[in-house]
Amino acid sequence: MAKQKTTVGTIDNEVLAFTAGRDVELDQALVTVDCIGTAAHVTMLSRMKPQLITEAECKQVIAGLVEIIGLARQNKFKINLADQDVHLAVERTLTKKLGDLGKKIHTCRSRNDQVAVDLRLYAKEQLLQTLEEAANLVVALTAFGKKHEAIPMVGRTHMQPGMPSTVGLWATAHAESLLDDCVLLVNAYEMNDQCPPGSAASYGVPLPIDRQLTSDLLGFSRPTHNVLYANNGRGKMESIVLSAMSQVMLTLSRLAQDFMLFTMPEFDYFKLPAEFCTGSSIMPQKQNPDVCELVRAKATRVKAAELGVYDLVKGSPTGYNRDLQEAKELFMEGIATTRACLRILAPMVKDTKVNVKKLIAGFTPGVFATDRALELVGEGMPFRDAYHYVKENLQELDNIDPVEAVKLKTHLGAPLGLDWNYFKARTDAVKETVREERKAFNQAVAKLLGVKYPLA
Ligand code: ARG
Repeated sequence: MAKQKTTVGTIDNEVLAFTAGRDVELDQALVTVDCIGTAAHVTMLSRMKPQLITEAECKQVIAGLVEIIGLARQNKFKINLADQDVHLAVERTLTKKLGDLGKKIHTCRSRNDQVAVDLRLYAKEQLLQTLEEAANLVVALTAFGKKHEAIPMVGRTHMQPGMPSTVGLWATAHAESLLDDCVLLVNAYEMNDQCPPGSAASYGVPLPIDRQLTSDLLGFSRPTHNVLYANNGRGKMESIVLSAMSQVMLTLSRLAQDFMLFTMPEFDYFKLPAEFCTGSSIMPQKQNPDVCELVRAKATRVKAAELGVYDLVKGSPTGYNRDLQEAKELFMEGIATTRACLRILAPMVKDTKVNVKKLIAGFTPGVFATDRALELVGEGMPFRDAYHYVKENLQELDNIDPVEAVKLKTHLGAPLGLDWNYFKARTDAVKETVREERKAFNQAVAKLLGVKYPLA
């Protein structure tokens, strides 16, 4: 059998390919964060007493890491199959450049440490991007709602006409759902904001490393405390993040479903921008809502990614197990999919047109029945009597104007009682979190690497 020499032993070629799996490609997304993690680690080693590398050596390593980050920015950093993953590719590159010094960077740590911190740094950035994109969609939905604030729309239950409502209420219901999802994303962000390195092979090392310092250098809020949990937390962290992502997708899927329903010619309440619809290869007249259908389908895939990670972890015994490597692809795909859906929907919402005529035509007299009963209640009739009175005199509802009807719904959160500042304040808070966290992280990394970050 053909064998291959690797940094950590000689193994069968097929075994190498099988065990490395997709890491050689997927780890491309981790090159920069892996270098940042290593920069913090060697800085910490240089400040230990006695120091395990000198300050001058630390500087040399960091310069080498900055070079690699530069290459990664241009997609020019190569991970070979013999490296197995980004961690050993970086070590190989530094050793080639710095000789014996390159061989010191793995002092007091394991690849498990590295991948754990890499994925947390990756998740940090991805969660901030997701929050920003979610805020943009909230802005689009809220603007759409405000623009059509008082336009009547039949409110439905069981999909059947129910009560008078508005386009504004419909749009901002989805916006508020997404704002709640942002709370889950921020929770996931906070849970993720713990620094695992120092766990080494899960059980710590017999030298006085400074885990708090590593955490501070990387701008994490704190180190994970228990070193074994630092390792067991891999997979759990991914599942927490994906669970927040799948809540986002739950919101988006319902929004997409509503769009499909209300753009059906039988409804014709809304018209999606033509450039967001696709044609048919055989039916010349077609304008299909494929974007919405795919968002609905992607919600299934993100949930599947979440469940996939959950299932990998649930039977996993304590300590590192290679199974965890399989979570990486699901994790990255789940996040990328959620973000793509957020990005595609914002401009679609913005340019969707409403058909006021059709929205008003959707009002059958029955839609006003409950309002009429409540009007009688206002005049002193007990509700059940009013209910039966209206049921027996439905003809009285024939000439009610939906525009006037919705004007009566003004209490908190009702169609004409929506507080636009509420939406704005919550959206601004999300944007502010993104700005502050991003700034703090970039500052920490710039200080660590001694260069402007992100690199110019
Ligand atoms: N690529 C590996 C992963 O994602 C890195 C850790 C390998 N650790 C090990 N003990 N074999 O899990």
